[in-house]
Amino acid sequence: MLFDRVKPLSAILSAVERNGLPRTLGAIQLMLFGIGCIIGTGIFVLTAAGAQKAGPGLMLAFVIAGAVCIVAALCYSEIASMIPVAGSAYTYSYASVGELLAWTVGWALIMEYAIAASAVSVGWAGYFSGTILHEFLGIYLPPWLSAGPLVLGGSAGGFINLPALVIALLVTWLLVIGTRESAIFNTILVAIKITALTIFVVLTLPQAELARFNPLLPAGLFGGFGTGVGAVGAAATIFFAYVGFDAVSTAAEETKNPQRNVPIGLVGSLLFCTVFYILVAAGAIGTIGGQPIMGPNGVPFPAGSEELARQCALAQYAGNLVCSDEALAHVLRQIGYSGVGNFLGIAAFVALPSVILVLLFGQTRIFFVMSRDGLLPASLAKVHPKYGTPYVVTIITGIAVALGAAFFPVGQLADISNAGTLYAFMMVAIAVLVLRKREPAAERSFRVPAVAVVAPLTIAGTIFLFLNLPYAAMLMLPGWSLVGLVVYFLYSRPRSLMGAGKVEVHELDTDRLEPDTPGIADRGRD
Ligand code: ALA
Repeated sequence: MLFDRVKPLSAILSAVERNGLPRTLGAIQLMLFGIGCIIGTGIFVLTAAGAQKAGPGLMLAFVIAGAVCIVAALCYSEIASMIPVAGSAYTYSYASVGELLAWTVGWALIMEYAIAASAVSVGWAGYFSGTILHEFLGIYLPPWLSAGPLVLGGSAGGFINLPALVIALLVTWLLVIGTRESAIFNTILVAIKITALTIFVVLTLPQAELARFNPLLPAGLFGGFGTGVGAVGAAATIFFAYVGFDAVSTAAEETKNPQRNVPIGLVGSLLFCTVFYILVAAGAIGTIGGQPIMGPNGVPFPAGSEELARQCALAQYAGNLVCSDEALAHVLRQIGYSGVGNFLGIAAFVALPSVILVLLFGQTRIFFVMSRDGLLPASLAKVHPKYGTPYVVTIITGIAVALGAAFFPVGQLADISNAGTLYAFMMVAIAVLVLRKREPAAERSFRVPAVAVVAPLTIAGTIFLFLNLPYAAMLMLPGWSLVGLVVYFLYSRPRSLMGAGKVEVHELDTDRLEPDTPGIADRGRD
């Protein structure tokens, strides 16, 4: 039977009891942790790609993507309060819909985390080249060194994105030698990011002009499935700006009063970011405008494409929001606040590497959980004798992430990452429904209100956004899954511990991985 390998909840929970991390996190700490993972390349960079897809409809795109994430966050809250272990959507699926589907989720999460790390690296590179190299050092990096050559279904016109390659390798090295972000460091970075965005909103909104929002939806509300344009197409891309909140769910076990604090942490950090993002989009578009550059057929040129780069080189589009690699700093410079623009550039330069670190770390954690279940080779989770880190998997992942960052544009990487994430979110909503039926009496410190509405809404919302990604990104999910299924049936299924009847679940993942790695709460006391 294909779908019979469902990991018993009791086995997972007994491991959690044995682990027994102290409950020290409150709602505010969870929110700070969430915001630290959420705010990154999405708002600092993809604002330009979002405007190229939707124009002022970008604000609506933030609302749509935020709404889908908020219902998904409610599902995450319930399941995290029920199964508070690492591995997130993969583990939840293993306990509800069984090994095969859990494998597909774990496989899709590779797409989410690794490719998201590539995307954030490219986003960082834009600020590094624009603010640090150009503004401060007067060095102009030629396009062939600052953009990749590839874009699925076309060409991006560059040769290699050198800064993106370097930052991805640098963060990989930091992870190999055991660098972790402490809660204090995270709080400082969150403060820097929020200060930068607040200053942006305060300086731009009062200068916003209503006329710049006209036409409000130049590419329509719905540009058509697979086109990736229109407000909904932009929502599918800008969804990336919210990714990362799911990391909060892994802290459920260390949370005081999880019934109250986990949903507040998840939904609160998302709501906070949604409001900020809409204000930032309004400030950017209201001051310098953000109408897409249209192709001959009246459809916006694809973001990240060579055609768009050619248009952007024309004098008539100089200074256009949709052409910028460092969207927010660019807006401030355009309206006469060059110094503040540079400050914002530095904020992104300083803060984005921590988002790459969290994503890469999450990736190694998922690999670890999967190999612990026997589905991936144990050698992948080999721990470095000196640093105590899973260096093999970290180095392999880091090189893949660096190559993705070196050769692809940020918008497309974000779209591909979104495809994997949307699948994982959908499976979490399905897992909530399955477990309500299969384990009605199991303890849930948080229950999704009106689950019969919220879970199906999450499923529908994620499918809808998925279908509005550009075709090339959409097709990556089935393509990647197909590879995953081949690996599963040839390698993983015959070696699965669960398949061999070993349902014993080990100690909490990361703590076994690195015995001296403190929990999230302890990191604050570093
Ligand atoms: N949400 C994160 C970002 O925008 C991944 O960088």
